[in-house]
Amino acid sequence: MRSKGPLAWIRRTRFWTSVFRTGIPKDAREQHAVVLSNVFLHLHPTRVPQASIRFIRTFCLGGISLLLFCVLLVTGVLLMIYYRPTPGLAYTDIQELEAVVPFGQLLRNLHRWSGHAMVLAVIAHMARVFYAGAYRPPREFNWVIGVFLLVLTLFLSFTGYLLPWDQLAYWAVTVGTNMAASAPFIGHLGPFSVVDAGGDARAILLGGEVVGADALIRFYVLHCVVIPVVMPLLMAIHFYRVRKDGGVLARY
Ligand code: HEM
Repeated sequence: MRSKGPLAWIRRTRFWTSVFRTGIPKDAREQHAVVLSNVFLHLHPTRVPQASIRFIRTFCLGGISLLLFCVLLVTGVLLMIYYRPTPGLAYTDIQELEAVVPFGQLLRNLHRWSGHAMVLAVIAHMARVFYAGAYRPPREFNWVIGVFLLVLTLFLSFTGYLLPWDQLAYWAVTVGTNMAASAPFIGHLGPFSVVDAGGDARAILLGGEVVGADALIRFYVLHCVVIPVVMPLLMAIHFYRVRKDGGVLARY
């Protein structure tokens, strides 16, 4: 794959060849080599059935979910600069973000709407996969990974809801965590309960029995660190499996 043209000498430098192991491909075999030796291109298969890239096959819903997750990561990191997770500061930080910080309101709304849209996109993606019958072998393991991704998406949304520390957040999380208290086995009010109020699912979520400072810091850590770290790991497995299971189901 020897390169030609006025700037070809750049592509022959040691620096260039140490980064790019192959030249510009001339045929399908060389294209294969380029794809396999580049981490970004390697994410995509070298060959894709034409039918599976038709818009109507997927409605791009998995990709839209991923895109929204990326928007959430970028806007979330920017929001972290202005937000402090303590009961005395959280509410006023959000008010200041909206009223004082340049583009603060836009930033907050981008994050909020992307969060809502991601929940809808993931549910729609799951419905698309279900109606295509793409949960059947050999894709059943990827369906299970998807279920974990759905639960984490909902949990990401739920944990973020408390952070503005306003009345809506406070009471929504009070209701949500009371539901955890009624869960079977792990909720102290639930059927077949094996725990007491101080050690059930609600207490673990809240760091106590009421929505207070301990709950806020737990939700903050879950929302900003734990879930955003775990989700990309699961997504990596999810995308890898799509590839290894022969790409998106092309015929149904
Ligand atoms: C954060 C959430 C998710 C992301 C980012 C994501 C992303 C993707 C992408 C990009 C694809 C390939 C193209 C497409 O179908 O759009 C895909 C395929 C797939 N996803 Fe997801 N997904 C997520 C959640 C889920 C959920 C909740 C389920 C099911 C419970 C699921 C099950 C599957 C299956 C079985 C495939 C293979 C589909 C086929 O072969 O036709 N995914 N996913």
